[in-house]
Amino acid sequence: MALQLRKLSYALGAEVCGIDVTKVTETQFGEVYDAFLDNGILLFRDQDITREQHIDFSRRFGELDRHDALPRDRHPDYPEILLVTNEPNPDGSPSESRYTGRQWHSDMSFTPVPSLGSLLRGITIPDVGGDTVFANMYLAYETLSDGMKKMIADLHGIQMAGTRKIANPEIGASRAEEQLKLNPPIAQPVVRVHPESGRKALYLGDKVKRFDGLTEEESQPLIKYLNAHATRFEFIYRHQWRRNDIVVWDNRCTMHLALGDFDETQRRHMERTTVLGTPSGYVVEETT
Ligand code: SIN
Repeated sequence: MALQLRKLSYALGAEVCGIDVTKVTETQFGEVYDAFLDNGILLFRDQDITREQHIDFSRRFGELDRHDALPRDRHPDYPEILLVTNEPNPDGSPSESRYTGRQWHSDMSFTPVPSLGSLLRGITIPDVGGDTVFANMYLAYETLSDGMKKMIADLHGIQMAGTRKIANPEIGASRAEEQLKLNPPIAQPVVRVHPESGRKALYLGDKVKRFDGLTEEESQPLIKYLNAHATRFEFIYRHQWRRNDIVVWDNRCTMHLALGDFDETQRRHMERTTVLGTPSGYVVEETT
């Protein structure tokens, strides 16, 4: 029987209905993967699965990242799982990953092998909010004028690790430095050709502070314009989480943002696997 899909928004996203991700056949997975490429993000509801099953399903999309670039945020027993949680650490100290994703980004863009896709599982969800917003970066590129497309064709945006830590005063600059040592700045093409669809997508986000060869002052107006353009309401889907949702997104043609739109005294606990992509970009020496 053909896969049952329900569009989530005009811009992107589809819910795959009536599927248990632990029982997907080879043929069904082929259809799931095609739907993933066509829709940018897929939602699977009511998946009450174990960590092992989360990892097994994720592996069907490709080899998994063991999160060496983010060692503090990975699960101590499952390196393939990245924690995004505000549950305090066993010693009572606040979790470092509670502000993960609070800026527009595409996963692992600050590494030489940015991610193909990510699978995020909602485990504890606040009563209201804690939503994730996704933007369709094909649409963002395709709706630019020909003049703008020409202007940005050869630009590379310098993707910085640690920007989230800098933004979090409780963690601060020392951790940001640690992140930068682990992940030196990488220049990524601003226009990326999707290796499977062949379509062009904008590749930017809030981790980019400047373009390679230009100063921050020179770069910022254009970065701000492109990010604002990419995240227009028409190009986004806002996901309201339910417990046991799995959302998988294609990091090569979408970007996303975790909203802090919830009562932070309530728990939000998410677990993410990250599928490795193909090499992209180059390391840059100086950062200003
Ligand atoms: C992430 O950026 O991977 C996490 C998104 C979220 O927690 O909503």
